[in-house]
Amino acid sequence: MRILLVVSAFNSLSQRLFCHLRDRGENVGVAFAINDAQLIAEVETFFPDIIIAPFLKKRIPEHIWSAITTFIVHPGIAGDRGAHALDWAILNRSSEWGVTILRANGEYDAGDIYAHGTFAMPQGSKASIYRNETTTLAIGLVDELLEVFHEPTFIPLAQHENALSGSAHRAMTQSDRRIDWENDSTENILTKIRSADSHPGVLDTILGVECTLYGAHSEGRLRGGIKEILAKREGAICLGTRDGAFWITHLKERHQPSIKLPATYVLKDRLKGVMEDRLPLFVDPMVETFKEITYLERDEVGYLGFDFHNGAMGAHQCVRLKYAFDHLKQSGIKVLVLMGGEEFFSNGIHLNIMEDSKKSDEDGWSNIHSMNEAVKSILLCDEVLTVSALRRNAGAGGVFLALASDFVVAREGVVLNPHYQTLGLHGSEYWTYTLPRRVGEIKAHELTSSCLPISAVHAEAIGLVDTVLSEDEERYLPELHQYCKALYEDEERYEELLDIKRQKIHHTSFTEEIQRHREIELERMYPSFYDPASEFNRLRKDFVYKLCPIQTPIYLQGVGNA
Ligand code: COA
Repeated sequence: MRILLVVSAFNSLSQRLFCHLRDRGENVGVAFAINDAQLIAEVETFFPDIIIAPFLKKRIPEHIWSAITTFIVHPGIAGDRGAHALDWAILNRSSEWGVTILRANGEYDAGDIYAHGTFAMPQGSKASIYRNETTTLAIGLVDELLEVFHEPTFIPLAQHENALSGSAHRAMTQSDRRIDWENDSTENILTKIRSADSHPGVLDTILGVECTLYGAHSEGRLRGGIKEILAKREGAICLGTRDGAFWITHLKERHQPSIKLPATYVLKDRLKGVMEDRLPLFVDPMVETFKEITYLERDEVGYLGFDFHNGAMGAHQCVRLKYAFDHLKQSGIKVLVLMGGEEFFSNGIHLNIMEDSKKSDEDGWSNIHSMNEAVKSILLCDEVLTVSALRRNAGAGGVFLALASDFVVAREGVVLNPHYQTLGLHGSEYWTYTLPRRVGEIKAHELTSSCLPISAVHAEAIGLVDTVLSEDEERYLPELHQYCKALYEDEERYEELLDIKRQKIHHTSFTEEIQRHREIELERMYPSFYDPASEFNRLRKDFVYKLCPIQTPIYLQGVGNA
């Protein structure tokens, strides 16, 4: 079937659907909805059997939906209509929310319903629920849609059915989310911020700076006056509330143009005198505070979590991860697992911090070096067996960080972007060594030059990952533990695997070989950072300022069969 995805951006849900449909064997294209004339032209060129719009912020022209059956994926329960569906569900504390697939017609979200479903609402940010619960459900519903689409007797649900639980709502405004510092409990404040995270954020004024707030974490220990800045930590600030305290990791100044940055980068000197409330290098995942690096041991397996906002890793974060890894590999465990974060495994070096820097060339350069040092530690680790566990999506250097481990497992449903060229980079992280070693030279070239996302299942088929574990979180973690335990339970096999690895690492040419890869990669990367006119400098700016594309990106044009 020829299926065209019409999108406002090739976001996480669109990428997941793109991968899923290609894995099913469908012929899938992507068209950005930039303006009516361009979209009509692209639709006519692709000539699809159906159109699916997984993430669309504008209306599809009648010329299109009247000629080709078009479906909209709406992130709300059946009957729900209007913008900011998930925002309202979070703010209203709905215990259940859902996804609806409806047929496009002349009215916004008003078409007949072809598939719908619900999930229990977790406690999380809008972006998190969208990337996880919404996306998983939407994929299942698209499968349902493709089944009923071919059934001549199928009758869709009309929007006026009384039984539908949702209803039309207006768009949410900043006044709906405004924090009432005197009266709101910490829980209320966290809910408001989560309803607007990652976009548009909750507007407020912090130390005289008008800005939007992102990345809220509750704090169990620190206490102080209402809206008092009680502490800072790794770029985040801790604020007092009427009944407790919470952390904000990121701010974006209201004045335009501005980008999302760690809170301390925005508030700068205004934070003079505020104490840095340091944590140990890694802490227990259950500690109620803002924390990035966590560690948990079960049996003889160590689980190292690194929950960096948006999976972006600045130089300090890379250094801390490296030291945590170096320390833990010597702690007597048998298997050390790189767990990534709650929202992403990793998306590589930190593009926003680099863009904000007055010396973005030098700071970017030190970021890539510190990332490489972390990867090198993993590649040269001869004390334990290492596993990268891709529970969430990974992109660019984040994928290649994962490939440094001896074994790589992925949760089903995870989407990987093992390439750098969309940002104009050659890339480092020793990818020229690790990627061909896993998939061969031809596939490595194809993955890095096509710039397309791939599913965990596809990654397993080509040898990029070793195995795929259940998508269901409740099964994923026990399965991961079982996988890790199996690596050491047969002691003879464990020692044998470790021996093979030690022999390889201590072979004199190994360190030279990986060093050579690093040098060649960095030689290619140098102009990207130091030439002010480089493609990377231009594309990075477009990326962090979220510039609207003027056409469907070249690498997505003409994509068809897998
Ligand atoms: N540095 C800073 N921010 C990053 C980032 C990075 N390396 N990678 C992703 N982000 C941010 C995005 O700006 C976005 O921010 P916001 O939602 O808070 O405004 C957020 O992370 C989520 O990213 P988004 O693009 O919406 O997620 P996605 O799942 O749709 O797409 C990627 C994932 C990996 C394809 C995409 O984020 C990407 O191309 N990232 C850049 C990767 C890169 O080139 N890294 C540098 C080389 S190692």
